[in-house]
Amino acid sequence: MPQGLPDAYPADLLVLIEDYLAAADFGPDRRSAELVNAMRYSLLAGGKRIRPVLVLATTRSLGADPVTALATAAAFEFIHTYSLIHDDLPAIDNDTLRRGRPTCHVVYGEDIAILAGDGLFAEAFTLLVDKQPSPPDMVLALIREIAHATGVRGMVGGQYMDVVGRAANDEDLRLLHALKTGRLISSAVVCGALLGGAVDLAPYRAFAGELGLLFQIVDDILDEAGDEAELGKSVGKDKAQDKTTYVSLYGLEQARELADASYARAVAHLHELPGHTDDLAAIATHIRRRTR
Ligand code: IPE
Ligand code: IPE
Ligand code: MG
Ligand code: MG
Ligand code: MG
Repeated sequence: MPQGLPDAYPADLLVLIEDYLAAADFGPDRRSAELVNAMRYSLLAGGKRIRPVLVLATTRSLGADPVTALATAAAFEFIHTYSLIHDDLPAIDNDTLRRGRPTCHVVYGEDIAILAGDGLFAEAFTLLVDKQPSPPDMVLALIREIAHATGVRGMVGGQYMDVVGRAANDEDLRLLHALKTGRLISSAVVCGALLGGAVDLAPYRAFAGELGLLFQIVDDILDEAGDEAELGKSVGKDKAQDKTTYVSLYGLEQARELADASYARAVAHLHELPGHTDDLAAIATHIRRRTR
């Protein structure tokens, strides 16, 4: 397990994003009240908020006010929550527990859960266009980054590889993880860097690509060895559904070693970043050590 780096998760950034998400406005029309309830049910169920906190922490690392990045940070949580609602559907992972609550489709039905996911995805871009207080070329750069990260060459392409079971070896599995989880996480760091005024994005991509891989290796370990009540989602599902994961391919012990190696690479990349990277180091440590 990693030692010696700061591991105090930036709690002030967590408060900022929680308050912003709680105030999210999806319009006053009472006819869509149930849809909005379903969106808010999943969004405000207390996730770890790692992606938005990464946006805010990266912006702050470059000396900019994180408040100026809140709309973009929230857009990441909208998109992530949409991906969870759809990931849990009977046609995909068929999960009934998420963020410590029955999944969206269990409560609202599959039809409304699908639309709640669609709604959150579209509302993420509405937020970027309407609420991100940046010049148009910056908003366009953010949208471009996020659109790429969530499409076929990103999260959805990774989910496709996952559902069709296309990962048979190390290289495939790295790609699957990099796409389904890594791409959105690295995009959060890149958008934070853009908003902080970074000129060279390459070191951010290198750090965050590794962080995203680490995140999913740990997710695989927790599915095998985690505690359901603490995680707030079912465990043992990957094995039951015959998914290729770091645990299925390497076993638990080696998966832990690979997570440690990935963590070490992520931290090494941190040294290439300008600014104050303590929050980012703490988030990396948290991602390796997390039990939920
Ligand atoms: C779970 O993500 C899905 C993956 C991409 C592995 P998180 O572990 O970030 O879930 P929440 O947001 O804290 O619920
Ligand atoms: C989900 O991966 C990734 C996305 C939602 C894009 P998993 O299926 O491993 O996530 P959990 O374990 O259900 O949270
Ligand atoms: Mg899945
Ligand atoms: Mg799942
Ligand atoms: Mg999982």
